[in-house]
Amino acid sequence: MKLEQNYSLKEHNTFHLQVKARWFMEYENEDELIKILQDEYFQESQSIHIGGGSNLLFLGDYNGVILHSAIRGIKVKEETDTSVTLRIGAAELWDDVVAYAVKNGYSGIENLSLIPGETGAAAIQNIGAYGVEIKDVIESVEAYNQLDIVKRIFSKEECKYGYRSSFFKNEHNDPYIITYVAIRLSKQPSYTLEYGNLKEELSAYDEINLTNIRDAVIAIRKNKLPDPKEQGNAGSFFMNPVVSMTKYNHLKSTFGEFPHYVISDTEVKIPAGWLIEQCGFKGKKHGTVGVYEKQALVLVNLGEATGDEIALAAESIRMAVEQKYGISLVPEVKYVG
Ligand code: EPU
Repeated sequence: MKLEQNYSLKEHNTFHLQVKARWFMEYENEDELIKILQDEYFQESQSIHIGGGSNLLFLGDYNGVILHSAIRGIKVKEETDTSVTLRIGAAELWDDVVAYAVKNGYSGIENLSLIPGETGAAAIQNIGAYGVEIKDVIESVEAYNQLDIVKRIFSKEECKYGYRSSFFKNEHNDPYIITYVAIRLSKQPSYTLEYGNLKEELSAYDEINLTNIRDAVIAIRKNKLPDPKEQGNAGSFFMNPVVSMTKYNHLKSTFGEFPHYVISDTEVKIPAGWLIEQCGFKGKKHGTVGVYEKQALVLVNLGEATGDEIALAAESIRMAVEQKYGISLVPEVKYVG
């Protein structure tokens, strides 16, 4: 177990904000997690559990306990002629899981290549890209209730997945800490290639296979999204808003054609990046915070930004979109502090 006081979180948040935690506790296995959860000091302190910090905005130092899992490992739990179920430690880097799957010829998550963060957080957030969400492959999730310290195994249905949402993200539910995630992948080729320019990107390759899909997704992401190692960011800052068909038709008659994806007969999803670009923010700087020039949904730390400065820039974007379109953008990034 690792236990540190006044611990720098700079390497634990992809905005690279220079903030500290009063305590940082990292556990290697479920027994160590149980010990922490039973500890009276821990129970009386405020605490949050983090993954790779790729979806967090620290507004200042954290005056409590930051918990982090070091439970790793990818093991085959079950295998048939056509599928394989992997049991993955929550701290395993998600992209390492994708690389492992692709190398072994297991399909289902290749479109989720190069998404930063750890597997436990990926299952909380229901990460998604290029027409695939992690929920499509989740079989079950092992988690501890932080209040009564009882382990529960959630079926996929019990995880209550929606767009970037889940049972675990819903603050009305008891807090749970995920220790393992089980995903089922196919041993037969089965690809999702319909999103955006994935097919077009793949036309440069001589064959459509798992490795080439992974390489194509990585190429698209590298071209569109800033590398957090080089420029602090947390990917999409806002979620794509879902509006009613009535609202969409009204907007279309006022502003003309809108990019959109029809979700159902009554709902439409609108790309937030487009709305932000239309409001003139793309590529612009707000002091220490930038709106990425190739994808307006991404805010970047231009150097020495603080969490407050990023939150302020986000708020001015949110207000401008609200004023012009009457659409309230909701951050995908979680504010802490
Ligand atoms: N667009 C613009 N201007 C911009 C950015 C986007 O006009 O500056 C419009 C374009 O019409 C484009 C459309 O938005 O066709 C969609 O853009 P993109 O394919 O880049 O996807 P997105 O909707 O902005 C979502 C996810 C990403 C994921 C991509 C690809 C959310 C909040 N974001 O972004 O996820 O990689 O789709 O599937 O759903 C993340 O969650 O951190 C993330 C990067």
